[in-house]
Amino acid sequence: MSVIETRELWKTYGRIEALKGVSLRVEKGQIYGLLGQNGAGKTTLIKILLGIVRLTDGDATLLGHPAGTVDVRKRVGYLPEDHQFPGYHTGYSLMDFYGSLYGVPASVRKQKIPETLELVGIAGRMYSKIKTYSKGMKQRLGIAQSLMHDPEVIILDEPTDGVDPMGRREIRELMSELKGQGHTIFLNSHLLGEVELICDRVAILQQGKLVREGTIAELTKTKGTFVIGLLSGQTFPSDAVIKLGYAVRPLPDQAGLFEITLSDGQTIEPVMKLLSERGLTVVHIVEKKQTLEDVFMTTVEGAEPGVDRKRRRGARPVGGRD
Ligand SMILES: Nc1ncnc2c1ncn2[C@@H]1O[C@H](COP(=O)(O)OP(=O)(O)OP(=O)(O)O)[C@@H](O)[C@H]1O
Ligand SMILES: [Mg+2]
Repeated sequence: MSVIETRELWKTYGRIEALKGVSLRVEKGQIYGLLGQNGAGKTTLIKILLGIVRLTDGDATLLGHPAGTVDVRKRVGYLPEDHQFPGYHTGYSLMDFYGSLYGVPASVRKQKIPETLELVGIAGRMYSKIKTYSKGMKQRLGIAQSLMHDPEVIILDEPTDGVDPMGRREIRELMSELKGQGHTIFLNSHLLGEVELICDRVAILQQGKLVREGTIAELTKTKGTFVIGLLSGQTFPSDAVIKLGYAVRPLPDQAGLFEITLSDGQTIEPVMKLLSERGLTVVHIVEKKQTLEDVFMTTVEGAEPGVDRKRRRGARPVGGRD
């Protein structure tokens, strides 16, 4: 049984189609990342799983039960995006409130609250009012709140939003630890570098459709691409290399560097041999690796401008990071 499963999931809000037939599966013990631009439908999918909004068509199950099943909620921890905890609570009293809501006995809460707040690094401030917390502290409290009842599944909408780099690393470590204990984590994030470090699998949503899905290794695998530079003054024999069957292009913003792309079954050795036969000296050669960000950018580049138009205009130009 999958922990989370959606099949042909559709959601429309009036005329807005937020999800258009999304099918995905999350297995026990995985850390699964859902990526996508603003408005892609990530939060909508989470809200359907939790029964906060109703699906329009298709189906969604959480721990084997239809999305929204009340009893299942007790087995799930949830960090909403843009949560606003009442500022008059202290960290401790908020945790106590949520704990009782989830049916955690008072004696357990007493022990569990400081422990959990320690895990997220804010135990030292647990008796201060939330209104005196920084953004990152509120976020850490939100994560702690989602763990209060030791849930099997933890659903985090932008868990590290507003958290400083050190804190983000601590949160990643916490997630690995939770995974090690058998918890399943489903998260939304825009921080691709971070997702790459922590997630077992990711799905990329684009305007309500799932456009890529797989393990990080599967998604970032490239056909071999090398960047080669010769001693200054030497001319790269592009035509000869193309004749050998390679794709060659000069890197536009790095004079003297050439990108060689191999097709299936090719290796870079024949190119090196040709260069040495011609008495040319290679001073730079690196194999290019794709990052999750590269994959994401190439995936969403063709997107029609949507709500994200302003940001896309300032996005990296086609052609990648080089
Ligand atoms: N309650 C609502 N009523 C109408 N439209 C909504 C509602 N909630 C979401 N939408 C629309 O559904 C689409 C998907 O929104 P959603 O919040 O799921 O995106 P998201 O991927 O979480 O984006 P972000 O990265 O900005 O959080 C958007 O077009 C949004 O405007
Ligand atoms: Mg969202």
